[in-house]
Amino acid sequence: MKTATLLTCSRAQTTALAGRFAQVLKGGEIIFLRGPIGAGKTVFVKGVAAALGLKSSPVSASFSLMKEYKNKHVKLFHIDLFRLSEGEVFNLGFEEMLEDERAIILAEWPDPIAQMLPADRLEMDFILRGGDEREIKLSAFGRVSEHLLEELCRVSKM
Ligand SMILES: Nc1ncnc2c1ncn2[C@@H]1O[C@H](COP(=O)(O)OP(=O)(O)O)[C@@H](O)[C@H]1O
Ligand SMILES: [Mg+2]
Repeated sequence: MKTATLLTCSRAQTTALAGRFAQVLKGGEIIFLRGPIGAGKTVFVKGVAAALGLKSSPVSASFSLMKEYKNKHVKLFHIDLFRLSEGEVFNLGFEEMLEDERAIILAEWPDPIAQMLPADRLEMDFILRGGDEREIKLSAFGRVSEHLLEELCRVSKM
């Protein structure tokens, strides 16, 4: 496992950081976003999608647990399973997403589906540091994610 810590001092900075992250995503990454409500997880995901020039297309009108963003080249799934349990997400249509090896998966409150996903993933822990400061702890589990973490650290220092 590899780890790193980043700091952001504003919403704009988190969005900018997400833009840098977007540069190194190739498809096939799994990213778990953890941390309390209001920590900036959604701001981050939206920043990634915007930087990739992706438009949101709701998978289905009644299915707000998962948002799909796509263009010709990339597909990004934004998942938010706040307050759901494993039993409740069974059979909700994640199978299609899981079959798509090139999809980028960004999941808030990921625990209910964690077991269904490959073990190689990057975890991002958002920690409130008072005011607008957020510490983001990165932990990479597996080869693909370790490489991703190194790339992320490289671009976030630019
Ligand atoms: N450094 C920061 N990074 C991201 N958001 C921030 C930051 N500082 C303040 N904010 C504010 O915190 C809130 C984060 O909301 P959101 O991304 O929805 O949180 P979460 O998805 O983690 O529950 C937003 O209102 C945003 O403007
Ligand atoms: Mg959120």
